[in-house]
Parts: sequence; C-alpha cells; structure tokens
Amino acid sequence: MKLIIHTIHELPFVKLSGTVIVADVLRATSSIVTMLASGAEKIFPVNHHGKALQMRQQNPTYLLAGEENGLKAKGFDLGNSPVELEQAQIKGQTVVMSTTNGTKAIVGSVGAGHLLIGSFLNLEAVIDKALQLGEDITIVCSEKSGIMAYEDHLFAAVAASQINHRVCDLELGDSTRWAINALQGLLGNGSEITDGQVLHVLRNCSHGKHLIDRGFSQDLEFIARRNYFQIVPELRGGALVGA
Ligand code: MLT
Repeated sequence: MKLIIHTIHELPFVKLSGTVIVADVLRATSSIVTMLASGAEKIFPVNHHGKALQMRQQNPTYLLAGEENGLKAKGFDLGNSPVELEQAQIKGQTVVMSTTNGTKAIVGSVGAGHLLIGSFLNLEAVIDKALQLGEDITIVCSEKSGIMAYEDHLFAAVAASQINHRVCDLELGDSTRWAINALQGLLGNGSEITDGQVLHVLRNCSHGKHLIDRGFSQDLEFIARRNYFQIVPELRGGALVGA
C-alpha cells in the first residue's frame, strides 16, 4: 500500500487512484463533517458560487452554504462556521456548498476510486475507513488562495503518522516521509498530538489568525477536537454523504 500527500496545486501533474482524503481543516472539511453529523442528507460541493446559486434556482429546496473572505456568501443561507452550522436547521436537507478553497480542492480531487473528507473532528474514523478500503491512500491538502496551509499539512502529517503506525511495509512518498519526520520533530518520538497542540497551531497559522480577526475564534476551538464525530463523508454520485 502507498501513502502519498499532495497539495491541491500538484494534482494536474498526478493521476489520482485508490482512496483520496481531502482536508481543508479551516474550515470547509470540518464544516462538511459537522453538517452531515448534524443530519444533513447530502452535500454537493461545487467550485464556484454561481454554480451553487444556479443549482438552487433549479432546486428551490436546496440550502446554500459557504463563505466569501470568511463571511457568509451573498445570497447563501448558511456560512462556513461549524459552530453555526451545528446549530442550523439542516436535518434531512440537501446542501450545496461553495467555499474559496476547500470545495475547489474536493472538486479537483474527483476521479479517484474513493473520495473521503478528513478533519481533526473525524480523524480516527476517516483513517479507519481508508484502511478498510485497502487501497493506496492519497491525502490532498487544500491551500489558502495558492499559499500552503499549515493546518492542512498538520492534519496530513498526523493522519499519515497514524496510518504508518498501523500498516506494515507502507510505501511512503517523499512528502509523506517529510511530514512524518517533521511531526516527530514537533512532538518527540512516539508521542501523539493533543487537542491543545492542534488548537495552538490553529490559533497561530495565518488563516487561523484571519478567522480570529473576523470573530470566529470559537470555530478554532470546535475544529481542534480530535475524534469528536465518527462520521466519514464520502463522495457518491456527485454528493457527499455520511457513512
Ligand atoms: C475555504 O474553503 O477557503 C475555507 O474553508 C475558508 C473559511 O471559511 O475559513
């Protein structure tokens, strides 16, 4: 089994196969996990707001979720704050979601055998599911408008270390080896990251600081809770559904 980490801008140069886990920890993939755990029936990820608005015109019962510069996008029903989405009335609803980077990373990763959504909120569950599928695993890190996102690489490093720990003879790509070594340097050999350490990274990375400035510091506390949900969103027929 191979384990590879890619950023979204590497995808034009590789052919995805096996199982892909997409991570946009702040905040799109954490929000998707939260919405499905809160009872949303399915979520269509789309790569621009116009497409979301058009889908709602054709299906007036659909809810639109997503952000523009962190705040609820114009004409949408819901923003991209998992704290707010957990309180929203979304049970049984179909949601169309469009965000600046995260949903683009998901749409850009379509084509693999299985596409799963990862976050610290469902860390263990998404790893279990990927291992059950028994295929090569690629973790795709989102970015922030073309710039590397520390929080997504932290997620990738933590997930990769746990997978490496559980699977013998895993073949590691260069970026995966680098991420695992960097995490060991950060934590010390053998120790596991804590929620407090995740939160520290979220508060100090550039997008985390941007979200704090916009009044979303509670989102960071919410998102840092490892294994808070057991749900694993998977793309089926163009929509993310919980499993
Ligand atoms: C994104 O997709 O760029 C993010 O999820 C932005 C955010 O809402 O923090």
